[in-house]
Amino acid sequence: MKLWGGRFTKQTNQLVHNFNESISFDQKFYRQDIAGSIAHVTMLAKQGILSNEDKEVIIAGLTSIREDLDNGTLEITTEHEDIHSFVEAHLTERVGEAGKRLHTGRSRNDQVALDMKLYTRDEIDELDELLKGLLEVLLELMEENLHTYMPGFTHLQKAQPITLAHHVGAYYEMFRRDRSRLADIRKRMNYCPLGSGALAGTTYPLDRAYSAELLGFDGPTLNSMDSVADRDYLIELLSALSTISMHLSRFCEEIIIWNTNEYRFVEMDDSYSTGSSIMPQKKNPDIAELIRGKAGRVYGALVSMLTITKGIPLAYNKDLQEDKELTFDAIDTVKGCLLLFTGMVSSMTFRKDVMEESAKKGFTNATDAADYLVNHGVAFRDAHGIIGQLVLLCIEKNISLDELSLEEYQAISPVFQEDIYEAISMKTCVEKRMTIGAPGAEAMKQVIEIYKKELN
Ligand code: ARG
Repeated sequence: MKLWGGRFTKQTNQLVHNFNESISFDQKFYRQDIAGSIAHVTMLAKQGILSNEDKEVIIAGLTSIREDLDNGTLEITTEHEDIHSFVEAHLTERVGEAGKRLHTGRSRNDQVALDMKLYTRDEIDELDELLKGLLEVLLELMEENLHTYMPGFTHLQKAQPITLAHHVGAYYEMFRRDRSRLADIRKRMNYCPLGSGALAGTTYPLDRAYSAELLGFDGPTLNSMDSVADRDYLIELLSALSTISMHLSRFCEEIIIWNTNEYRFVEMDDSYSTGSSIMPQKKNPDIAELIRGKAGRVYGALVSMLTITKGIPLAYNKDLQEDKELTFDAIDTVKGCLLLFTGMVSSMTFRKDVMEESAKKGFTNATDAADYLVNHGVAFRDAHGIIGQLVLLCIEKNISLDELSLEEYQAISPVFQEDIYEAISMKTCVEKRMTIGAPGAEAMKQVIEIYKKELN
């Protein structure tokens, strides 16, 4: 069934049809296509371009098609070129003459631009819900672990002690920015292309502001050529999705490291792990690795979209049909990753004792020991050198700084007194860091309050 058979004298070559069709994938937005058509005829009737009677008949027909597609009694078949042709053909079959008036003052170019925007907007809302769910899990973890000490790393070498709450909080910030990025995109894209026609608008007295309002847009788009050719918002979305994937991938990488026999900071729940077909002892973090891997696929979609659009002259060209599969795939991939990641983290066991032990072993309090000397009048550079010597001594003796005797301290610098032990205890090192953004529980509590308000 073609919408454009009139000027043709031959049937389309079957290979051409197969190569050209988009219904195998754009059927994904049949609900949005029907919603767009309902708004369009409602506007046409209000403007007197279509009779109220026709409007009612068309809306009833479209609604019945949507219901039948929803419950599976109507099947989408690929002899139609795209979802727009499919819906229109079925409408006319069901309601007769009136169905043929549906496409008045509209082109598939503004129609597809609309459908894709409506679909994307709905998906952005779902992505935001998933991100919110993840933030809730992370916030709970933070509240439970304000005093769970662990090493903070630079260069993957133990650096200074922090808390698990603080480490998780770093990811909280990343996913929080991801949400705000999605919100920005949603706001910027939320203008309605319907009524732009093929490229040059239409001579019918459409009320574009009205159809925009019916569909929940902030207004109509302001240039009809741009409206049918713009895919910027998809590039922005794919970029935001790439960033979410990158954040997930980074966190997964850490979890994979923490889950190793060498670290043992966490243990993956059995329900989120897999085994080996040959090595009976194995319990692998496949889900974390898959999420890390899928970032590559999402980046691929971004680069594809940038490349597809770079040489397209105004206005619509068929290249733009290539926006769909990769965007759908990227959205579905990220939604899947968010869902699985949230489940994985909330079922994981954090071995707090191992984390704290590890923080104690890695001289993570060396900076605080140097600060102790500075507080007693020693210049920082000299203090750095003194603590360096003490660390060397500890390495030789295979002990930590707090296990040195006061005599050993004083042999290197007479400034040390009994209170050095208190000054370099894990508790002091962490809890004294109280400026906003630091790991001390007092600082963290203030930040958590901000997050809580924001989440509700
Ligand atoms: N399937 C097409 C797409 O996804 C719909 C627009 C077709 N327009 C056209 N002039 N051929 O882009």
